[in-house]
Amino acid sequence: MEQTEVMKPETLDDLIKILHKLFEGDSINVEEVQNIMESYESKPHEWMKYAKFDQFRYTRNLVDEGNGKFNLMILCWGEGHGSSIHDHTDSHCFMKLLQGQLKESLYEWPDRKSQGEMRQRSQRILQENQCAYINDSLGLHRVENVSHTESAVSLHLYSPPFQHCQTFDQRTGHKNVVKMTFWSKYGERTPFETTVSQENN
Ligand SMILES: [Fe+2]
Repeated sequence: MEQTEVMKPETLDDLIKILHKLFEGDSINVEEVQNIMESYESKPHEWMKYAKFDQFRYTRNLVDEGNGKFNLMILCWGEGHGSSIHDHTDSHCFMKLLQGQLKESLYEWPDRKSQGEMRQRSQRILQENQCAYINDSLGLHRVENVSHTESAVSLHLYSPPFQHCQTFDQRTGHKNVVKMTFWSKYGERTPFETTVSQENN
């Protein structure tokens, strides 16, 4: 693979095509993926059909299954909506802001021995078009739209794809396995999968 740094996706479809190429092989270059996702300038009309909001909690909307190599999805965050603290099931996680801002709080993995408040390592506000990266070796995180007036939309890529993750209780570090569901797939509402949905990433 050469000169992938210069590939600038002009549209979301463009970006998806480039991502398919980057994930063809057995290994990826995290920085390269992050740069390319960041270099796509969000245009709402290109992703609007996937952006389906719920009144009560954020939604996960599948955009592309990446030939089995990754899941690409759009998450829609209403005012005040947030995730629990969670891990990423040994996958790569890229998160790009398409609209608004999100607060990302990074936590350390809880100590097996000590029960108590989980340790927060850092916090930052992700801005429109910015692309963050996390995996389990970097820690756990919570993502929140702390705005009371603006919704937020983010584009997430997980590789390899996964269906379960662990969520953590901030006060105790106690963890739970959670099945992750989609609010919609390819722009179509998926009505029969949402009942067990819990907070996830
Ligand atoms: Fe996450």
